[in-house]
Amino acid sequence: MRTCFLGDIHGNAYALEASLQYLDKVKADAIYCLGDLVGWLPFGDRTLTRMRTLGFPTVAGNHDLLVSGLFADHPEQVDRMQATAYNAGLLSSLPGAIEYLLSLPLILEKDDFVVVHHSPFHLPRQGELPTIKCFDYLDEGSLSGCLKAWLNYPHRLIFSGHDHVPAIYELPGETESPQLEDVRIHRPGPDRPLSIKLNPTARYWIKAGSIGGPYRDGAPVANAVLYDRNADTVTLFRISYPTDRLRNELASHQFIRNLPTIQKYIRLLG
Ligand SMILES: [Fe+2]
Repeated sequence: MRTCFLGDIHGNAYALEASLQYLDKVKADAIYCLGDLVGWLPFGDRTLTRMRTLGFPTVAGNHDLLVSGLFADHPEQVDRMQATAYNAGLLSSLPGAIEYLLSLPLILEKDDFVVVHHSPFHLPRQGELPTIKCFDYLDEGSLSGCLKAWLNYPHRLIFSGHDHVPAIYELPGETESPQLEDVRIHRPGPDRPLSIKLNPTARYWIKAGSIGGPYRDGAPVANAVLYDRNADTVTLFRISYPTDRLRNELASHQFIRNLPTIQKYIRLLG
């Protein structure tokens, strides 16, 4: 069984199409989407329409829910709010788009893995709606706060996106009181994939990185994951695509090109 994961597409149809072609050759039995189909780039209508047609099982990302108006952003996230407002306007005129985003589950559980946009340990309590606090980034403090829960989590593998930095976090199973220094982090090179053989006693949290950017590890490539259950391996792919076409579209967009985050992103794509 070969399962692929991709997410954080953020309106980047160039990266999405290149990644789909790449994954076609991987011959996956299933593909899951880790959320954030929209947000940041001003082309959320393109990727949302494409992903709805493909019909992959998909979880909701913070941008999907922000654009849908389910909750408000942190007040200091000014750039993100402006990009959200732009995409909300764009998608409001696309029939069924907001309803689709609001219908996405926060987590999907399958055999030995779960799929979640950010973290299975920061979901809202049963019966409560998510807020932006469910999507705070995982710094050392919050990671160490969920190590025990991770060690005892019923699923061996967690696949998530959100932070736009591809990495495999490995927690050895031998310890009863896990510490931050026990966590081993595997990262791919800027233009090389990373494949690791899984240790049967360890737990793994696989952060897929972003398909569409902005890329926070400085590598302007799309990122996707393969879990090969028979071989017991996980591979982080680095997928190149025509970034010059995206850069030109962003640089000529009258509104989005003015956001500092997007200006930085345009420079990275260049
Ligand atoms: Fe994202």
